[in-house]
Amino acid sequence: MRILIINGPNLNLLGKREPGIYGSSTFEDYLGKMRAAHPEIEIDYYQSNHEGCIIDKIHEMGFGQVDGIILNAGAYTHTSVALHDAIKAVKTPVIEVHISNVHQREEFRHHSFISPAASGIVIGFGLESYHLALLSFVSKI
Ligand code: DQA
Repeated sequence: MRILIINGPNLNLLGKREPGIYGSSTFEDYLGKMRAAHPEIEIDYYQSNHEGCIIDKIHEMGFGQVDGIILNAGAYTHTSVALHDAIKAVKTPVIEVHISNVHQREEFRHHSFISPAASGIVIGFGLESYHLALLSFVSKI
């Protein structure tokens, strides 16, 4: 099984960015733990601060190249019809994740353009949100 994690804008700063909300671990450290916990899964990782680059990556990997995409689109979640359309356009299931519980935060974070296109949503479990999304691809009973 091969899964791609995509992180959007400002998520390259995890560990330094608002640690009270996003924690003090870098994403690379957490990714290492996920890879160690799941040696049977190939976990690819891509981060970009640019909307078009994220869309290009979804197009590139969304037709069978990976079994699933885990996407934290950051603030583009709340603004991007283009990301909604990209997720709808591809065949690979995309799970939307958020580290923080966006519904406990500012009202502008309550709406997601991505949710209606996503195959599932994991919100508010810290970095563990990514792991829970990963488990949803592997654990089918
Ligand atoms: C976020 C929540 C978004 O509202 C915010 O813009 C982010 C991170 C999260 O993971 O909690 O950049 O997607």
